[in-house]
Amino acid sequence: MILYKHLAIILLTLIFVYKSNAFGSYFYCKFNECCEEPWIINNITNLTLSLKLNVFGQHLVQNSLPKLIKGHLNNPKPLKPLVLSFHGWTGTGKTWVSKLITESLYTEGLNSKFVKFIPVPHFFRDTLRTRELAENLHHKMMRSLETCPHTLFIFEDIQYMNPRILDELVMYLNYPQPLAGIDFTKAIYIFLSNSGATKINDYAAEQFMGGRRRESISLGEMHQIISDKIYSEDGAFKNTDFVKRQVIDASIPFLPLEKGHIKDCIKRAILGRGEFPYESIIKKVLKDVRFVPEGIERFAEVGCKRIDQIITDYLE
Ligand SMILES: *[C@@H]1O[C@H](CO)[C@@H](O)[C@H](O)[C@H]1NC(C)=O
Ligand SMILES: *[C@@H]1O[C@H](CO)[C@@H](O)[C@H](O)[C@H]1NC(C)=O
Ligand SMILES: [Mg+2]
Repeated sequence: MILYKHLAIILLTLIFVYKSNAFGSYFYCKFNECCEEPWIINNITNLTLSLKLNVFGQHLVQNSLPKLIKGHLNNPKPLKPLVLSFHGWTGTGKTWVSKLITESLYTEGLNSKFVKFIPVPHFFRDTLRTRELAENLHHKMMRSLETCPHTLFIFEDIQYMNPRILDELVMYLNYPQPLAGIDFTKAIYIFLSNSGATKINDYAAEQFMGGRRRESISLGEMHQIISDKIYSEDGAFKNTDFVKRQVIDASIPFLPLEKGHIKDCIKRAILGRGEFPYESIIKKVLKDVRFVPEGIERFAEVGCKRIDQIITDYLE
């Protein structure tokens, strides 16, 4: 009789501990960000719409990105993480698009614990501390992937990264087997750079001068033009394992922006401040934007960058 009583108590205790754990975790994830729904939303409909509404002049990006990301997210057993590289001139929207992606995939967007935004120039230019920087990066990446395999890494201005450190990254990009119990295959990597940008701009200029419509430029055609340039120009990608091992799934070119796109950016920026975008103000702001090349003045020199600063002068 006493034996049964003991057994019953032990059983009840076990049930209680089990329940409270599950309950605790349920409760915890209701109020704290966890590596699951509803914190990870992976909303491709939102991404498609968001790119259509908020990105100006980048049909190649708008048409290709949702498909690429959807393909990866819908694959229950990807062989490798999704690795994308964005190429284009300053202000064409590479960082902006990355931010929109974070908002469609994570409730917390850029502030998500599972989004690692790494501005390369601030961390990786120092050539004397290569070893140490590489180790820190390894540590950070392993910890991130251990916490959540669905991590999104964004490296900004990767052209400044020391090529030796870049090569260290390769193991994360094509590693099909779990290492130390960590799954490498669910992550997404985006590398932003200006390598190939000059070629992209030159080609776009030639086409537009020849009277072609911007939207008629295709991704395949663009790849033929830039594929050799993207990775062979001076900069981080040159002669790295990155290129030799072909770890990048897709290179997305960002086209240079024209007057109409800059006007859209100005409008959005003014509306964003709760003001009405009067044509007279837009015209004034536009006068302060520099267009290149000289004599043709077709492309905004720094895209939509600095628009926010310029409108400040006119709204006050
Ligand atoms: C996904 O995004 C679309 C567009 O923003 C929204 O209408 C829809 O409710 C979202 N779906 C989920 C499951 O949150
Ligand atoms: C996409 O989702 C974000 C975050 O939930 C929201 O702010 C944005 O309005 C949505 N975009 C569209 C086009 O519905
Ligand atoms: Mg940028």
